[in-house]
Amino acid sequence: MRIRPSLKAKAFKESPLLAILLPATRTIPHARQELRWIREEVDNNFVDQAATSNKKTLRFQNRQIDLLRRCMLRGRKGWPLQYVLGNQPFGDSLNILCKPGVLIPRWETEEWGVKLASIVKANHEFFSDKKYSFRVLDLCTGTGCLGLLLAEQLENTQVVGMDDSPVAVSLARKNETENRLILDTRNSSFTVSKQDIFAPFNFDGLFDLVVANPPYISIQNYNDGLITSPSVRKFEPRHALVGGLEYYVRIFEIADQVNANAVVCELADKLQLDEIQSVLQNGKWNTKEMLDSAGNIRTIIAWRDQWAWMKNLA
Ligand SMILES: C[S@@+](CC[C@H](N)C(=O)[O-])C[C@H]1O[C@@H](n2cnc3c(N)ncnc32)[C@H](O)[C@@H]1O
Repeated sequence: MRIRPSLKAKAFKESPLLAILLPATRTIPHARQELRWIREEVDNNFVDQAATSNKKTLRFQNRQIDLLRRCMLRGRKGWPLQYVLGNQPFGDSLNILCKPGVLIPRWETEEWGVKLASIVKANHEFFSDKKYSFRVLDLCTGTGCLGLLLAEQLENTQVVGMDDSPVAVSLARKNETENRLILDTRNSSFTVSKQDIFAPFNFDGLFDLVVANPPYISIQNYNDGLITSPSVRKFEPRHALVGGLEYYVRIFEIADQVNANAVVCELADKLQLDEIQSVLQNGKWNTKEMLDSAGNIRTIIAWRDQWAWMKNLA
């Protein structure tokens, strides 16, 4: 919907930058909020430069240019806010760096990741009797948000993330560095390797838990644009979004290979859940679904008999 000229004029009177942001935010209060975040980000980035340069006027000009550039990317080009800011808070205290080419972390993933961590912490005997490191394999790690979240929420936990996209792998490694101090306080770690999960490969040791948020949008749903918004299709990588049953089949093969006791994967809907459950029917996995707080089926939980407490994850 187009913006009323009177609204634009009102925003411009307060600040020309607000008027630039308006096409993306639609309302003045929302534009104010985003402008505050963009300003904070620009200020943070220029703090370092201020320490090394004493050319005050130049510094001021560069800061203004950066502010304008980011507002234009958001308001005129429609970039997602996380790409404009370059980061997204996640979990209790993680700062996940974001950049074009890598999927932006979603609230749904954060929600089930936190629930998963809390049930593991409450039920796995390891967390009262720490004899070994708890090991998690995060397939299709992207920014690393999910793996880092589990490393943040669980103590003494080693998470290995894998992705086949060089941009994602490089960003996930930066995210490890960005959040290392937090992981250190938990005695946890997160390492990332570049790996196509469909290619045969050997694992370094066994894992307790496999998690994944694989590409799960069918090509039809991606193309008809009803489920994926135009903004998602325009700005986020297709490679991170389009996929289906083949990913889940492979994830469960890997889970068998690494002797995992549980697998938790994000998925699209009930239809996909049924497909996955029918493939797993004759195996050794118990399964159930988990809804997100919007009431949608969002995750499949699978566990071996010895981890029966996983059925309480919902
Ligand atoms: C839906 S994104 C999830 C990213 C991240 N885990 C999250 O929750 O934000 C899927 C990720 O899978 C990766 N991917 C797609 N195909 C892959 C493959 N064959 N092997 C490894 N990673 C793959 C993409 O590069 C992308 O980063």
